[in-house]
Order: sequence, then structure tokens, then C-alpha cells
Amino acid sequence: MATRFTTTDWYSEPEWYDIIYEPDTPREVEFLERALEVYGPPRRRGRTRALEPACGSGRLVAALARRGYAVTGFDLEPEMVAYSNRRLRAAGLRARVVRSSLERFGDELRLGPPFQLAHCLVSSFKYIASDAAARAHLQAVADALAPGGLYVLGLHLTKYDETGVQRERWVGARGPVHVVCNVQSWPPDPRSRTERMRARLRVQDGARERRTETKWTWRTYSPRQMLALLATVPSLEIAAIHDFTYDIEQSWTIDELDFDTLFVLRRRP
Ligand SMILES: C[S@@+](CC[C@H](N)C(=O)[O-])C[C@H]1O[C@@H](n2cnc3c(N)ncnc32)[C@H](O)[C@@H]1O
Repeated sequence: MATRFTTTDWYSEPEWYDIIYEPDTPREVEFLERALEVYGPPRRRGRTRALEPACGSGRLVAALARRGYAVTGFDLEPEMVAYSNRRLRAAGLRARVVRSSLERFGDELRLGPPFQLAHCLVSSFKYIASDAAARAHLQAVADALAPGGLYVLGLHLTKYDETGVQRERWVGARGPVHVVCNVQSWPPDPRSRTERMRARLRVQDGARERRTETKWTWRTYSPRQMLALLATVPSLEIAAIHDFTYDIEQSWTIDELDFDTLFVLRRRP
């Protein structure tokens, strides 16, 4: 008999998301700090300001706040915003986390003084459905950055000749809660520039098991499409290209682009 999964939005269960992604937090934060040192603006007095569009459960917001950064994060999902604020309060940390969108935050939020760092990891950028909205997003981030400030943008680039179904699996646990997450993507459609995604979660909480399924569509970017998009925002330059190993010593050239990519973008003076 087929296993039944309840259709839901997995971002409305921030704890489950957090259990899966939290183990990556230390090396990601380490990378962000090293990137600032290597590619960022000269150090200045006062706290370094960091902005995280689509900050999810706030794992990176909290980690940077703990290291002394003045952090602003925003997310579309109210449950994620509430969870982030609860975790900050519980840890005695201060940061600003509010509801807004990747597409409209430039108009919706008063962001205050310029940021030295912005970051948006694990392909969240691909939720932006059109090139026009993606361009507006990049411009809004550029406008929020200090000269020399960085936008670290991590996303999986698309190979349109990919014909098979791709699968990834994550497993995590916190106390009695065990989460298994299977993400599946179908071959990208080069005409609509979309790929269909599905996340299936099996969550064991003591004796109780829940099975949920979330489907969504991502915008796709080949290396060339991503470079073309970036070229439309001249106030951002590519300072470096890394990958999802978050190894600051390992960088790539533009000609080598075809993988899980971390663009280190820099606001031109
Ligand atoms: C893969 S999670 C990444 C969260 C966080 N950046 C991290 O690294 O853990 C993607 C997040 O994007 C948010 N999201 C999706 N579409 C969005 C949009 N249009 N504007 C703002 N947030 C969005 C979701 O609610 C979710 O929290």
C-alpha cells in the first residue's frame, strides 16, 4: 500500500526545518566571516551590520548575532519569523527579524544604515519567479549595502540537459524528534525556466509519526543565465565564486561554473 503524506508547507514547521539545516550553520557562518575578511570592506569601528533575506528559522541570524553582528533578517513565512524571534529571545540575543518578501523588501522595510554583509543561501533566491523581480531584488540588496559590502548568494545552478529525477536526503534529530527529509526535483523545463520540487518529511516525535509533503516550483538559472542577470545590476561585481563546501581556500573561475555555487558579490564603490 502506498505511504500517505499530508500536503503542507514545510516552512510552516520551522522546528523540523531547523533540525535538518542547523548542522550546517557553523561552517556557513565561518565562511561568511572569512569572506568578509578576504573580500569585504575595510574593518571599521562599531558592529558589523548583516542582512539576511529569506532568513527561515533564524539559525544564521542567531549565529551572527552571537558573534556580535547587528543582524536584520526577514522571511515571507510568519511561522519562520515567529520562530526566529522566539529563538533569539530564548538565547538572550538581539536582532531584528520581520516579515517581508524577497521581491518587495526594498519598498516595505526601513533598513537603516548600510550593511557590510548580506547573504541568502541554499537556493532561496530561486523562489523569485521572474528575471525582473530577481533584478529588482539584487538592486535592492545593492542599495542596502555599504560600498565594498558583500552579498553572498548561494544557489544550485541548472543543467538543462539533465533528464533524470534528482534526489537528496537529509536526516536530523533533536531530543525525541527525528526528521527524515527527502527532496526530489524533476528535470528542468528550459522554456518556462522552472523546475518542479517536492520535499517529503517523515517526523518521528516519540510514539507519534507524521508524514508531510510540500511541492513548489523554482526558477532555474544556467551559469550563463545567472551571469546575464548579474550583469544587469552593475552596482554589484563578482568578487569570487565558491561552492557549497564553504571552503574559503577553494574558489572557482567563471568558466568553471556549473554546480552548487556561492557567488560573493560586492557593492562597487
Ligand atoms: C531554504 S529556506 C532558507 C532559510 C535560511 N536562509 C537558511 O539558510 O536556513 C527558504 C526560506 O525562504 C522563504 N521564502 C520563500 N519564498 C520567499 C519570498 N518570496 N520572500 C521571502 N522569503 C521567502 C521560506 O519561507 C523559507 O524560510
